[in-house]
Amino acid sequence: MRFKKPLDLLLSEASKTGEGSLKRTLGATNLVALGIGAIIGAGLFVRTAAASAEAAGPAVTLSFIVAAIGCALAGLCYAEFAAMIPVAGSAYTYAYATMGEVVAWVIGWALILEYALGAATVSIAWSEYLNNLLGGAIPYEWCHSPFETSANGVSGFVNAPALLILGLITLVLIRGSKESAAFNAVIVMVKVAIVLVFVAIGWKFINAANHTPYIIPENTPGHEGFFAHGWGGILKGAGIVFFAFIGFDAVSTAAQEAKNPKRDMPIGILGSLVVCTILYILFAHVLTGVANWTEFKTSGKEASVAYAIQKYMIGYDWLATSITIAILAGFSSVILVMLMGQSRVFYSMSKDGLIPKVFSELHPKYSTPYKSNYILFAFVGLFGGFIPGSVAGDLTSIGTLFAFVLVCAGIMIMRKSDPNIERPFRTPWVPFVPILGIVVCSAMIVSLPGETLMSAFLWMLVGLVIYFVYSKKHSVIRNK
Ligand code: ALA
Repeated sequence: MRFKKPLDLLLSEASKTGEGSLKRTLGATNLVALGIGAIIGAGLFVRTAAASAEAAGPAVTLSFIVAAIGCALAGLCYAEFAAMIPVAGSAYTYAYATMGEVVAWVIGWALILEYALGAATVSIAWSEYLNNLLGGAIPYEWCHSPFETSANGVSGFVNAPALLILGLITLVLIRGSKESAAFNAVIVMVKVAIVLVFVAIGWKFINAANHTPYIIPENTPGHEGFFAHGWGGILKGAGIVFFAFIGFDAVSTAAQEAKNPKRDMPIGILGSLVVCTILYILFAHVLTGVANWTEFKTSGKEASVAYAIQKYMIGYDWLATSITIAILAGFSSVILVMLMGQSRVFYSMSKDGLIPKVFSELHPKYSTPYKSNYILFAFVGLFGGFIPGSVAGDLTSIGTLFAFVLVCAGIMIMRKSDPNIERPFRTPWVPFVPILGIVVCSAMIVSLPGETLMSAFLWMLVGLVIYFVYSKKHSVIRNK
């Protein structure tokens, strides 16, 4: 028999207030800012140049549009669910209501890849940029994992800056979601302002020749493969910049803290996606107009934006430094929203009995799941402090895409199983939108490297063992 979480139970949980419940403190603006906080980060500042150099050329703008379409399809489905069932668990909860406990567990487990591992990956990148800003002042052994060795033979010991930023953000999160949202809002303003300033100043330095031809022609040396030029290259570029959109779904994990989720959840999810897509296209247009995309094959690398400014935008060195600060700020808010999302998914799983109760115990004063935040810090810190950054990036994408697929499927199932429930927001053109969402996201999963798929598979196996050994026995629904 399939154990599903009854809808009326979910809705009564959603309307609960008072002791033992998360507080409803977030408005529409907070939610859009939360989305932008999670979205703009390494994906934009690092992967734009990489995608144009590897596959898309100046048409990386079109790659952003393709990736945005994939995300919008899933985003429309998330919006229907988040307005209909405004509880904390996001995709995990939606799966519990539609596809049953095992699928819900699997998706909850996959979300750990997205949120916890995502936060760890970004904390490592944060450490790299901090060291850049400080001119390499941090000794190698204190900003690298024990699995890394420098060119002159120094072994890493611990990535201390990564632990530092994770610790600081954990403390902010424990203070409350309103405080976290305020902290996030400041950072969002800084990073959006710097993106806009770069676009405004950079626009004058666009050299039209850098945009001609716009799409990499077929006979370009080094770009012979199907996915290295033309529309194939644009698609590959979309896979690379997909990372830049990860995070908009985290808005849905805050559904239980939204003041008016029916109206504001769709605004938060879709609004942040629209704002970021526009910023991304402008940013990519300017970056590939200021410097020629072929230069990014060898120059700039992670610091591609600073490279373009320093070489071509003479007199604007301050902007290069500001970009690095924006990146550091941007990474901090990505970590904040990811950690917040993870603790809210754990909160729901714990309330359902699938993981221990400690994950849903709330702070007596701040009403945040503070013990969960501490445990998460230890877990994510283990990755951030002691594992190389390259290990986690693509796993984050898999976890995300997997959740997208199940959320799209869930919309179709729920339209059949509960056609009459109130839907403040309706995904348009069902089943066309969810089916296309499933196809696009599955295609992106398949395009990821084989070893990443294998690691994700092993992660899922471990999850299933835990489910059968622990969660199934403790499930509240099963043992009623
Ligand atoms: N979208 C987030 C970033 O680009 C994960 O850093």
